[in-house]
Order: sequence, then structure tokens, then C-alpha cells
Amino acid sequence: MNYVVVGNPIAHSKSPQIHAAFAAQCKLDGFSYERLLAPLGGFDAAVRDFLAAGGRGCNVTVPFKEDAFRFADALTERAQAAGAVNTLKVQADGRVLGDNTDGAGLVADLLRHTTLAGKRVLLLGAGGAARGVLLPLAAEQPASIMLANRTAAKALALADEFRSRIAVPLAGCGVDAVAGSFDVIINATSASLGGEAIALPAGVFEPGAIAYDMMYGREETAFLAQARSAGAAQCVDGLGMLVGQAAEAFFLWTGQRPAVAPVLHTLRTAL
Ligand code: ATR
Repeated sequence: MNYVVVGNPIAHSKSPQIHAAFAAQCKLDGFSYERLLAPLGGFDAAVRDFLAAGGRGCNVTVPFKEDAFRFADALTERAQAAGAVNTLKVQADGRVLGDNTDGAGLVADLLRHTTLAGKRVLLLGAGGAARGVLLPLAAEQPASIMLANRTAAKALALADEFRSRIAVPLAGCGVDAVAGSFDVIINATSASLGGEAIALPAGVFEPGAIAYDMMYGREETAFLAQARSAGAAQCVDGLGMLVGQAAEAFFLWTGQRPAVAPVLHTLRTAL
């Protein structure tokens, strides 16, 4: 059983460590998982070579998730909605299924810290990361989802695109125009990469709110520092989402659900 994570760059990916820990938990002898550096523009050729050599599946990371979306012969509904694929699986008939487990990984991690049913959710960002988690978030039946983006028009367009596909009230606005307060505030922007806070109005973080940043690092992210000083009760980074999306991919490939918590603990200690 040969698996890889494909990206560029890929040297620092934690996925091999995560999947090795899952395989050990599940006592899967013969499960191998390595890094595969594909040249820019060379995703299809790299994956075809890997599959021709007996590969059973791949995780796909930056910048190839849209390439993987196009590469797949068939797509899950959540991959279709995300417009991006982070997991490929060779099916019994040889066709390649494309899935996106990022949203499931986020939701699983959120549910380890809070409930989502009936909550007011604010999702920051309108790029691929936000798009990828909308359906799985809505499936938890929050009271509402507000999409807020620095460029308001993108949030409005994304809300328009998804409104008819989900059973939860969904609206869009600019980050500086967010009105009211929220129970769950999720940062799906890349602002924390540059160490930048987000220009949110005061009062967005309800007392007792949970703030979740899809980014993670040894130091608290800029968004979580902002949330903490605005009064958020829980501030959680995206390391658990990383392990959660991996667990969901592992399940797709092997049918087994590994325990996330011990693997997350090991990664956290090593950050
Ligand atoms: P990804 O695929 O990770 O979502 P992306 O498609 O490039 O990446 O989207 C990046 C997101 O982060 C966008 O929503 C972007 O806002 P704009 O659409 O206005 O560009 C958001 N973003 C990046 N830097 C930001 C910042 N400093 N403050 C607020 N939002 C920011």
C-alpha cells in the first residue's frame, strides 16, 4: 500500500509522520507514505508515474489542489463544492477518485472544542480555504454562517453561489462591515501568514466565543492574538485540522478511523 503527499515545496510536510502514526495505531503492515516533490507544471506526470508504479493514493497540497481536481476521474460532492482536491484514491476499477477532506478535518477539530448546532458562525476569507469548508460546516446546522472578506464582493459572490446548496442562512460582507457578535469565528484567510491582524469591528467576539485559525505555528498566530485580546474564550490553531484532514484521508484509503488526539499531542510537543 503505497501513498504519497505531493506538493512544491514538500520537504517540511508533517503528513508522513502523521500517516505513519495512524498506520502504526491500526497495525497496518505494508503501509508506506512518502513525500513527492512535483515540479511546477508537472503534477499530472508525477502522479501518473507514481500510480503506474503501484501507488494507491495521494494527499495533495499547495500549489496542486486545483490540478488534482482536474486530474481526478470522479469527484466526491465535497470536492466538487470545494473546487479543489486534497486526496486522491485509486478505486477498484482503476479510476481515480478525488476528495477534499479539509472541511471534515476542520469540523472534527472544532467539535473537539465546542458544538456547532445552533451557533452563529463567522467565516473569514473567500478564497479556496473558505470555499473548501462551507459545506461540511453547514452540515453541522449552525444557526447562520456569515462570510466576511477583505474584498467584500468576493464574500458576496461566494455566499450567492452556496446559498441554494445549504439549509443554513448564509450572507456575505466586508470584514470591516461585520455586524453583531458570533459564537464561532474561523479564520480562513492567509492574513496570519504575514503576521497581520484582520480589520474587524469591535464586538465581533461574543464572550465565550471560540476563535479558530486554520494556520498554526509555534507562536500564537496574529489572528488568535487578536481574538484573545478581544475576549474570545477559546483560541485554537489549525494543527488539529491538519491531523483531522489526514485522518479522513486515511479512512478513505483504508476504511479505518485512527485516533487523532495522541498524534496531535506528539506534533504539538515537537512544534
Ligand atoms: P486560500 O486558497 O488559502 O484561501 P487565496 O485564495 O489566495 O488563498 O485567499 C486568501 C484569502 O485571504 C482571501 O480571502 C484574502 O482576501 P482578499 O480576497 O481580499 O484578497 C484573504 N487575506 C489575505 N491577507 C489578508 C489580510 N491581511 N487581511 C484580511 N484578509 C486577507
